[in-house]
Amino acid sequence: MIDEYWEFADDFLTLTDIDLSCYNKPQVLRRLTAFRQKQRIDSLPQLLEALKSDPALVKECLDRLTINVTEFFRDREYWQVFKDNVSLLATKRLPLRFWSAGCASGEEPYSLAYMLINMLPRACWMIEASDFSNRALVAAQEGIYNSKAFKNLTEEEVLLFFNSLGNDLYQVKKSLRQCVNFFRHNLFTDPYPTNLDVALCRNVIIYFTEKAKKRFFTGIAEALNPGGLLFLGGSEQIITPSVYGLERVDVYIYKKG
Ligand SMILES: C[S@@+](CC[C@H](N)C(=O)[O-])C[C@H]1O[C@@H](n2cnc3c(N)ncnc32)[C@H](O)[C@@H]1O
Repeated sequence: MIDEYWEFADDFLTLTDIDLSCYNKPQVLRRLTAFRQKQRIDSLPQLLEALKSDPALVKECLDRLTINVTEFFRDREYWQVFKDNVSLLATKRLPLRFWSAGCASGEEPYSLAYMLINMLPRACWMIEASDFSNRALVAAQEGIYNSKAFKNLTEEEVLLFFNSLGNDLYQVKKSLRQCVNFFRHNLFTDPYPTNLDVALCRNVIIYFTEKAKKRFFTGIAEALNPGGLLFLGGSEQIITPSVYGLERVDVYIYKKG
């Protein structure tokens, strides 16, 4: 019997350009089931039929599948270690080119911009940030959040980061927004940027299959300049970094040899 999940995945790829075979199947199935139940759709084949005739439903389904949860300075203790490693790199080479891959609604690249503004002259660094979710990218470019986003920030940082818009809405200051160039990028299908000095890809690959993770590590290692850094998320690690020409410099930080 043909597995209806893989039939769904095949057609889903045609509909969306998202390759579900690169993601952990039980996690995807759990989210698809929750989505189906909310939509009162009984089975995967029926969901597929509904998606084929309803672009708005495709969009909703994608939003349900991609976890966009993020924070300013997520896991702040690691950001200090990251900053120390970036400082060291900056003594050897400038300017530095950063890429925040899987940036969700922008908190990560804006945290990076804030860190760098307080560290190095503006001409010494550039930040690109990407995600495959259009919805996330629109939110990231707007840079508007509510006060729940202040969780990891001091009062002083909140004042330096945002302009209040009223109604508990705050927009990242233009001077910070101008530091980040956002673009759509699918880590499975699009070519990676080249000549990177620092890549942040945090809490993205946890959902990938082992095969997809290997492809990502190969691609990102190629994209980095010698001595370049990769900053992963709090539950992500590379078991054998040397296979990719990387070495572990700290818990979630790897360096290209
Ligand atoms: C949990 S968020 C992580 C956000 C941020 N990096 C952080 O650590 O807070 C994961 C993001 O990865 C994005 N993502 C998942 N698969 C992707 C892919 N194949 N290509 C690009 N982005 C992807 C999702 O859209 C989502 O915004």
